[in-house]
Amino acid sequence: MCAYKKRDGYYRKAKKEGYRSRAVYKLKQIHEKFGIFREGDTVLDLGAAPGGWSQGALEAVGEGRVIAVDLVGMRDIDGVEQYRGDVTSEEAMDNILKDTKVDVVISDMAPNISGNYSLDQARSVYLARSALHVCQRSLRDGGNMVVKVFQGEDFDALLEDVRANFRFVKCHSPRASRNASSEMYIIAKDFLDIRQKG
Ligand SMILES: C[S@@+](CC[C@H](N)C(=O)[O-])C[C@H]1O[C@@H](n2cnc3c(N)ncnc32)[C@H](O)[C@@H]1O
Repeated sequence: MCAYKKRDGYYRKAKKEGYRSRAVYKLKQIHEKFGIFREGDTVLDLGAAPGGWSQGALEAVGEGRVIAVDLVGMRDIDGVEQYRGDVTSEEAMDNILKDTKVDVVISDMAPNISGNYSLDQARSVYLARSALHVCQRSLRDGGNMVVKVFQGEDFDALLEDVRANFRFVKCHSPRASRNASSEMYIIAKDFLDIRQKG
């Protein structure tokens, strides 16, 4: 483990409090500020491994449902429905979700970091667009989305597309994001399901 990880206060806090990752505090801070979840909600967690966000979402929805999807497997979390799959694959998401409608989509997906920022950033935008696409197929009218994306080229175009689909959209960097990080979270609330208006 790198020294950076050992020193990190959120990392130690997550270990102590029984969370799978320090990332859970980003989700908690976002929820505190923007009120993403309600008791009883069905949440779809994209890029869920190792499971910190799924744990945080489950706490927030109580008797609701959390459906977690990732390319890689993760240890079971009591109460979380877990699937291995590629979120960018229409077929994989059809098999996992079928006709399920969800109240909230959360995506902390990140590409394998190559070290070439332009490439990594473009891949991050592609993953965020895939999350938006999943919203268009499975988010209920009025639902919410939180999606991570690395800042850079095509960020503004992505934001515009999110704005076309939700009534409330803000960019936010929670305190638990590392200072040097280029990651940004798009908070989108009140989904406009055009299929219902048609
Ligand atoms: C930063 S980690 C997520 C951490 C997680 N939110 C937590 O709190 O523990 C990013 C995850 O995105 C997943 N991922 C990347 N591309 C994906 C894809 N196309 N489909 C599904 N998961 C993907 C990776 O496998 C990785 O586990």
